[in-house]
Amino acid sequence: MLLQGKTAVITGASRGIGEAIALTFAREGADVVIHYYAHKSDPEKNLRSEAEALAARIREMGRTAYLCGFDIADREMVDAELKKLLTAVTPTILVNNAGITADNLALRMKPEEWERVIAVNLTGAFWVTQALMRPLMKNGGCIVNIASVIGQMGNIGQANYAASKAGLIGMTKSLARELASKKVRVNAIAPGFIETAMTQAMPEEARKALMDIIPLKETGKPEDIANAALFLCSDMARYITGEVLKVNGGMYM
Ligand SMILES: NC(=O)c1ccc[n+]([C@@H]2O[C@H](COP(=O)([O-])OP(=O)(O)OC[C@H]3O[C@@H](n4cnc5c(N)ncnc54)[C@H](O)[C@@H]3O)[C@@H](O)[C@H]2O)c1
Repeated sequence: MLLQGKTAVITGASRGIGEAIALTFAREGADVVIHYYAHKSDPEKNLRSEAEALAARIREMGRTAYLCGFDIADREMVDAELKKLLTAVTPTILVNNAGITADNLALRMKPEEWERVIAVNLTGAFWVTQALMRPLMKNGGCIVNIASVIGQMGNIGQANYAASKAGLIGMTKSLARELASKKVRVNAIAPGFIETAMTQAMPEEARKALMDIIPLKETGKPEDIANAALFLCSDMARYITGEVLKVNGGMYM
């Protein structure tokens, strides 16, 4: 098993790519902290039940699963919940996976569409990383940031999303340099078109246009990203840091 003895914090793990990463890491021997979206004051909006179902599957595999809920864009919540978590757990792996889209043409983009996407995808990933940096440094850990092909090639209607993901790539390279002396490796994955709730909402015409530019002529699965994350977090990638691994069927080379 490639991650025996490791403990991985995965943000936005209650579904989609995050869920696939949690299951793959558990299969490879890691204990997992399942982070899920929790609203500051309205428990109705929390995604805890999805996270609990995933935790049950991970426990059936013989691993320990912890739950941790917060809105990643809320600095106070991030700090308070991670401080609590660190009394019980010493993470060795962090996967910054939580992310959203709020697409609109630049001319029509509302301030809240711009601000929310940057706050969740980029600033939130930084808050979580900062809060977990000390334990990761203590144990020679590993960070993987889930960026996007859109952060590398841009896309009409996604100026906010592309900026957030390009920012995440810049953050990855800076942290890779900053943390290398502590033996913490920091890499990013840039997924292409992966079948999840995020892409299922796309209109058929947009899906077809995307398929036309994918040389492998098929969409990716969450497991394709999970396998890339597994490789980057394992000792097989011990000499890889500051890298952006494209997992996109050749869509952008
Ligand atoms: N699906 C794709 O084609 C694709 C392509 C490139 C990159 N990505 C990236 O992969 C990551 C996972 O996406 P997915 O496709 O699984 O989508 P998804 O919508 O299924 O998952 C996103 C996760 O982030 C969580 N999240 C969103 N806002 C949050 C907040 N404010 N606080 C805490 N958690 C929050 C959600 O609850 C969910 O668990 C995202 O960062 C996304 O940008 C996806």
